[in-house]
Amino acid sequence: MKKMLITGGAGFIGSNFVHYTLRERPEYKITVVDKLTYAGNIENLRSAMDEITFIQGDICDRQLMDKLVGEHDIVVHFAAESHNDNSLRNPWPFIETNLVGTASLLEAVRKHDKRFHHISTDEVYGDLPLDRPDLKFTENTPYHPSSPYSSTKAGSDLLVHAWVRSFGIKATLSNCSNNYGPYQHIEKFIPRQITNILSGMKPKLYGNGLQVRDWIYVDDHNSAVHAILDKGQVGELYLIGANGEKTNKFILETILELMGKPKDFYEHVTDRAGHDQRYAIDNEKIVKELGWQPKFEDIRKGLEETISWYKENATLWEAEKQAVEAKYKENGQ
Ligand code: NAD
Ligand code: TYD
Repeated sequence: MKKMLITGGAGFIGSNFVHYTLRERPEYKITVVDKLTYAGNIENLRSAMDEITFIQGDICDRQLMDKLVGEHDIVVHFAAESHNDNSLRNPWPFIETNLVGTASLLEAVRKHDKRFHHISTDEVYGDLPLDRPDLKFTENTPYHPSSPYSSTKAGSDLLVHAWVRSFGIKATLSNCSNNYGPYQHIEKFIPRQITNILSGMKPKLYGNGLQVRDWIYVDDHNSAVHAILDKGQVGELYLIGANGEKTNKFILETILELMGKPKDFYEHVTDRAGHDQRYAIDNEKIVKELGWQPKFEDIRKGLEETISWYKENATLWEAEKQAVEAKYKENGQ
């Protein structure tokens, strides 16, 4: 059995990664380390608890990271402060966790000579213009992040590259587009709109809603991470995307239709400062070099399943719905 340490495994993508790995790759023995911030929920791992070890801890705790990394063969690093809107209100947790936390893991990985995979985002590249549909991000696109979130993720990527080059650590990186699916925090676009409707509130669209995101179902992201762990080249970065470009307005109208609401049952609210216009991934490298393919490309079906999941799992989000919306309201959103 290979011993795998998963940071941030109680969050959205990390918890899906835990469930995916238990289901598809039983050769891994899993430990999750997670601080359980507002975004982490132990309930996301409830059905896996008998099969994994869970440790509540902060990736900025260098002593703890040194100990945990030393006890495992491989580290998959999901832990981060992950929400752009929060980073505009208070960047400090982003600087601590995304930069200092990643550095503390890298130092432990260097000392114990362990395999490391760093999970990152396509937002490190900034945005693409709406009127140039021919342009997409590639592994050679220069970094040009827009927000405290994306700039601290960009910084964390650069730390990984430097530790590979200067210290020869065995690391890979992946930069994925916007994920959706079960266990996503209700502050994010898709679950916010679904849970607004379920709570009798109108969905909220920033600005004109014509911004484009390149949506990928979370299990496709996680199967790509496993492809990199299996076959990726040390020192390489892989973009992950599933050709899922849609405007925010299209996604919202599809959710409204699937939930039996009129097409115009939503409010336009204050736009996000520095709002990135379009993200789009060219996934040729991971497809050609690692033979990875996404399986869930039908966004309508994926949204339908995601809506059902939020209906069936209201106990996971109902208690904090009012507080999340109150925070948005302070910003006119
Ligand atoms: P999330 O906010 O849902 O989960 C983050 C998890 O990290 C939470 O469980 C939280 O408790 C934990 N955490 C935060 N700070 C910590 C710390 N200091 N120590 C230990 N644990 C800590 O985020 P997510 O959407 O699941 O994103 C996971 C990773 O994937 C992030 O690195 C993010 O940048 C990246 N990513 C996300 C998306 C997306 O669409 N959500 C897309 C591409 C990449
Ligand atoms: P989000 O889920 O925050 O992801 P990201 O900022 O990483 O792309 O937002 C996705 C898109 O949806 C983004 O263009 C902002 C927009 N958005 C809304 O229109 N309304 C909302 O209530 C939220 C949270 C986001």
